[in-house]
Amino acid sequence: MTGESLTGIEIRRLSAAEAAAFAELTFPTYRRLLALEPTVRHPEQGDPRRIEAIAIGALRAGRPVGLALGERALAAGEPAEALSLFVVAGERGRGLGGALLGALEDELAALGAPEIRATWTAGKPATAYLERILARRGWSAPVARTVSARFRPEDMLTLPLFSPRHLAALDPGFEIFPWSELPLDELAALRAGNEARPWISEGLEPWSYGGGAGYDPATSVGARLGGRLVGWVLTERIDGRLLRWTVSFLDKRHSRRGRIVPLYKASLERAVAAGYELCLFVTPVRFPNMVRFIERWISRRATFVGETRGAGKPLEVALKPIPDRV
Ligand SMILES: CC(C)(COP(=O)(O)OP(=O)(O)OC[C@H]1O[C@@H](n2cnc3c(N)ncnc32)[C@H](O)[C@@H]1OP(=O)(O)O)[C@@H](O)C(=O)NCCC(=O)NCCS
Repeated sequence: MTGESLTGIEIRRLSAAEAAAFAELTFPTYRRLLALEPTVRHPEQGDPRRIEAIAIGALRAGRPVGLALGERALAAGEPAEALSLFVVAGERGRGLGGALLGALEDELAALGAPEIRATWTAGKPATAYLERILARRGWSAPVARTVSARFRPEDMLTLPLFSPRHLAALDPGFEIFPWSELPLDELAALRAGNEARPWISEGLEPWSYGGGAGYDPATSVGARLGGRLVGWVLTERIDGRLLRWTVSFLDKRHSRRGRIVPLYKASLERAVAAGYELCLFVTPVRFPNMVRFIERWISRRATFVGETRGAGKPLEVALKPIPDRV
């Protein structure tokens, strides 16, 4: 179908020496993977799983025109991931994106990966093309995973939500403190208490993410009420400009009607003071209150609001010849 229109284009798995020339064809955060050496996927998130990046390149007359970047887990039986798919503007719409993804699937299957998965951000111009490619290639239907919003912290602070009048009505007298100053025994007691009688929403525990090691000390805050630790807004430094709000939680007994807002304000003010230009607020869709908070408030000052979606596809495991039994 596409063979004819792709005449003159060579698609192949890249060696590490070749892959460097394709750096512009993937996201900055993935460029280090083009070394194509076994590595750790998310060292900054405390994710210790080891992976190997696989790069499939498209070349016209030896020049890079497309890249499918994926990774396979080095532990057997784990799913592989497609990380990015890119075709240069002049070559789009002729089947090259689909062909690159197909070659990546084939390569991962040959290496023994049982399944391929992908997560991407919707709301961008190429979202529809990407989803069209996945549907054609027999991937599962996309499912919303998270909603994210991007904004400048000083813009967000101008929301009426953060006005002194509003805050005075919301703040029950929190003692807000830098998370980095939380005594370890207080964190241990929180964890033990939650194990005995769970009250923290799953996935929002401060230790659920990187053991708490990856939080940005300048902008992560906790709150006590009557001496008891009741909430936290924990952030991650992506780089000197970009900050991600990763986990925020307030004890349900205190969290009605926006009670967490004073914690957000404290974190935002610290983000401005620390020189962050952009914040990324991300919440899994299984927290509908947070999604509503983005829709109702954050979207008013955000420069981008979109959901991440995920999909996957089982791979045909390459059949190995069965040795004769003795
Ligand atoms: C997404 C992307 C890789 C697609 O590459 P491509 O070579 O155009 O892909 P294909 O030609 O195989 O398929 C694109 C599909 O979208 C459709 N499409 C519609 N309008 C299109 C357009 N203006 N440009 C490209 N595709 C278009 C194509 O017709 C095709 O569907 P079809 O197979 O039913 O005809 C490319 O647009 C791109 O690099 N975009 C920027 C990077 C990006 O956002 N990547 C995805 C997230 S990592």
